Amino acid sequence: MNPSSLRALLDHWEADNKLLRVKKEVNPLYELGAVLNARQGRQPFYFEKVKGYSSPMVGGLGGDRALLADSIGIAPDQFVPKIIDSIVSPIPTRLIGTGPVHENVVLEPFDLDALFPIPTYHGDDSGAYYVSGILVVKDTSGKKRYTSIRRMQFLGENKTNVLITSPELLQQFYEYEERGEPMEVAVMFGVVPAVVLSSQISTHLYHADKLDVAGSLIGKPLDVVQCKTVDLEVLAEAEIVLEGKMIPHEREMEGPFGELAGFYGTRAPQPVIEFSAVTYRDNAICQTIFPSSYEERLPMALVREATLLSTVRQTVPNVKQVHITMGGVARFHAVIQIEKRSEGDGKQAAIAAFASDKDLKHVIVVDEDVDIFDPEDVEWAMAVRVQADQDIFIVPGAKGSPLEASHNVRGVTAKMGIDATVPLAHKESFKRTSIPFGPIDLEDYL
Ligand SMILES: Cc1cc2nc3c(=O)[nH]c(=O)nc-3n(C[C@H](O)[C@H](O)[C@H](O)COP(=O)(O)O)c2cc1C
Repeated sequence: MNPSSLRALLDHWEADNKLLRVKKEVNPLYELGAVLNARQGRQPFYFEKVKGYSSPMVGGLGGDRALLADSIGIAPDQFVPKIIDSIVSPIPTRLIGTGPVHENVVLEPFDLDALFPIPTYHGDDSGAYYVSGILVVKDTSGKKRYTSIRRMQFLGENKTNVLITSPELLQQFYEYEERGEPMEVAVMFGVVPAVVLSSQISTHLYHADKLDVAGSLIGKPLDVVQCKTVDLEVLAEAEIVLEGKMIPHEREMEGPFGELAGFYGTRAPQPVIEFSAVTYRDNAICQTIFPSSYEERLPMALVREATLLSTVRQTVPNVKQVHITMGGVARFHAVIQIEKRSEGDGKQAAIAAFASDKDLKHVIVVDEDVDIFDPEDVEWAMAVRVQADQDIFIVPGAKGSPLEASHNVRGVTAKMGIDATVPLAHKESFKRTSIPFGPIDLEDYL
């Protein structure tokens, strides 16, 4: 399988009975999202008929650890080392003359809504949104390329606005704005999950070219082509690309919108993009990611796990694995597994975790015999290994995340560390039961 081709991946999953093909026509107004969300972003869907359009739409490609790992060609437990290795050893993109994404070119004037579907997801959303496009920009020096996902509310004809929360990217836009210049953008749809995953790598920590990191994740350079109307490069194998400019000093109201944490964000003015070209492959396949689903959360969580492991390892070298949970909205809860060597390791690991990520609220540290990917096993460790007066510490009034309602109403967040590791002096009292037989195959007995 060509690991950079969405079409090859869809064929592979179809052959493997992993792809759910929806033959019934679906309305992009709520219905498509409702069907996609029936599997919470954990299974790939291919919508053959979207009402009012001739192009199909896919979603749910990157929300399951095993399938995401399969798309990259690694084992599901290898994400953290693979992400770290890809940041350290990126594979630069390769500029080629032309590519499939330029098979069709539409220049202004055009109506975005007439070309491809723009779904509406939640009941109180302020309109139709692009939610999965990979935004490509260059910094003001023109040297550094930067990809990320930013939702874009359709404003009519060739306009959207864009929600950018990362300080670095906002700062770049403000610099252009101060000069009275627009910031050129390109937005890619129909890309493999590795490109979504790499887009979540934090710029202020790593300053990596995320398309080069994606190349390293899949083990080969990604081909890029020069855009038609802006000075940017996009993936040659992307299905659809929107080219345009963020207009200086122009804002339009955006929101409410159903956010990552499962509640509505507030309404506020956001920068406006005016698009100058749409390029796409023959028989283009549209792509979406249901907001707040596993598909949105998993890439964020995996990238945060890589950072968390590296930070905790600085003070607790015997840390084994870390897990940022989906129920904790891919950022508020971490479970850390350590090989405890001395008293204090558990609390130290939790302190290091809080230092690694301001969004973390609750951290649980467990021993090696606990499966950190199984919530029931983690709860078991809390039930039988924790004494609240000794093993829990709370830091009141710390910084939190604006994606969390209980933080927003108070302006600060309390952090709670739970040390669910066994006291070393009493290890024998905590020994887990086991059966000295097996593993067995139940089929042999029935
Ligand atoms: C499906 C999805 C949708 C996202 N939507 C937004 C968004 O609307 N606005 C935003 O600022 N970040 C959004 N993010 C998060 C950013 O893409 C992410 O924080 C960023 O790329 C991290 O890199 P940075 O440090 O380079 O900004 C989204 C992430 C995913 C996976």
